[in-house]
Amino acid sequence: MRTPLVAGNWKMNKTIAETRDLVFKMSLQLREINGVDKVLCPPFMSLMAASALLEGSGISLGAQNMHWEEKGAFTGEISPAMVKELCRYVILGHSERRAYFGETNEIVNRKLISAQTFDLTPIVCVGETLEQYESNRTREVVSAQTSQSLRDVSPAFASRIIVAYEPVWAIGTGKASNGIEANAVVKDIIRPALTELFGSETAQAIRVLYGGSVTASNAAEFFGQPDIDGALVGGASLKIDEFAAIAKAAA
Ligand code: 13P
Repeated sequence: MRTPLVAGNWKMNKTIAETRDLVFKMSLQLREINGVDKVLCPPFMSLMAASALLEGSGISLGAQNMHWEEKGAFTGEISPAMVKELCRYVILGHSERRAYFGETNEIVNRKLISAQTFDLTPIVCVGETLEQYESNRTREVVSAQTSQSLRDVSPAFASRIIVAYEPVWAIGTGKASNGIEANAVVKDIIRPALTELFGSETAQAIRVLYGGSVTASNAAEFFGQPDIDGALVGGASLKIDEFAAIAKAAA
């Protein structure tokens, strides 16, 4: 049995003051919802403030990215050791990191191995672009992203990894995929790639989320699918009632 998980990726939104307000109000609703792992991923600058407010709430924090090195001359970067002080989770290889900051599968894999070293639970993002989708390359792209980003970790750590299938064409567009199509990608492409890497028992234990225009109104359609274990939510995770309703649907 895989415990469902919902994570809110705030992206580059909310100041520290705004985070305090939103986390406080959101935690009042989220803490009443059981049977689902709840994760908030505000910007680095706000993690400290959020952490103080979430103590004892059962709601976890995640970072949106990190460097793979523990420390050193990497101006502007945040290390896994720093993330670990405040977060249990870390999002790796989000499509915006891949598209705007040049992150390759190899870089994502380096970060994943570092997450293992620092005992962070990674949420690894994969997903095809619109062009790849329209030219029927989803299988090739998502399979390669999965097998290349997730290799060279121990089986024990592998079972803790969370994969987020986020078709790029569905992110922030209001055009979500649909339950059947997204489930098919997870079942026929992602899980077979995981099975090849880690064997079937571990592959079955790994949670796979859907992400891309998830809202309170379409969440249940995705969560009703046998291979989808929750959601990575962008825009709707900044709205208290909306995100709480998504968490409730997953529970
Ligand atoms: P939206 O929910 O805003 O489409 O964003 C999805 C996403 O990128 C989450 O990581």
